[in-house]
Amino acid sequence: MAGGSSRNSRIVETVRELGDARAVPNRRWLAGLLGVSTASLDPWLAEIPALGPLAKSLHDAHRSGGRRFYAQFRAPYELYVLVRACRPDHIVETGVSSGVSSVHFLAGLRKNRHGILHSVDLPQVQAHAQLGARESEVSVPPGRSSGWAIPPTYRRGWDLHLGPSQRVLPPLVRGLPSVGIFLHDSRHTPAHLTFELETIRPKLRPGSVVLADNTVWTGEAFPRFARSLGTRVWRRGHSDLVGLRVPESI
Ligand SMILES: C[S@@+](CC[C@H](N)C(=O)[O-])C[C@H]1O[C@@H](n2cnc3c(N)ncnc32)[C@H](O)[C@@H]1O
Repeated sequence: MAGGSSRNSRIVETVRELGDARAVPNRRWLAGLLGVSTASLDPWLAEIPALGPLAKSLHDAHRSGGRRFYAQFRAPYELYVLVRACRPDHIVETGVSSGVSSVHFLAGLRKNRHGILHSVDLPQVQAHAQLGARESEVSVPPGRSSGWAIPPTYRRGWDLHLGPSQRVLPPLVRGLPSVGIFLHDSRHTPAHLTFELETIRPKLRPGSVVLADNTVWTGEAFPRFARSLGTRVWRRGHSDLVGLRVPESI
């Protein structure tokens, strides 16, 4: 279909602006997570090219700080589509760094004209303006804070909490009526992921989506949580970014 292939090439162009080929959205993963057909994702995927200027701004910000890649999160456009599809009241994420995942959640909320993103981050600060060869790319440049690459126009509806999620997440989640989407991208150990998943569990509702990145380091924590909810794990391609959808019978 001509319309479909021109839309795909505009999505690929947006991914190029962002600077990381891994960010081409994985439709099968999204469709599985949401329990819908891949074709029904088209209206939301068609909105991705409008994020081109944001992609360029993020790419430029990362390069100016001496980073090789645009980001630490490989699936930003899936986050955008999940927000458009689920229309959550509240999103919670742990692990912000420069703010790539955060800003794509915020872009979806902005388009929905509804919802709040609650982010938790314990930033690591880099020593000098240029990232050192031995420093982690998740470090924040001196004088900046978590989410430093997020343009000011996207910060509306953002509730950022700085500190270890062990301390910050429980009181934050207790104060929320529900969690529509949760993303774990902070400290990647089995015990820490289990702690975060158990903290949000009471606020999950049927249809809530739970995601975890870098699960190569977290062993059985995510699959065990999925089993306890009676649902399956959806893996993004061959990567270790995984997700689940909370079933109707929770
Ligand atoms: C992989 S990066 C997050 C990447 C981000 N989601 C993105 O899209 O670019 C991990 C972040 O989690 C932070 N972090 C590490 N341990 C943490 C903890 N215990 N609580 C909160 N944040 C933590 C790190 O400092 C870093 O900013």
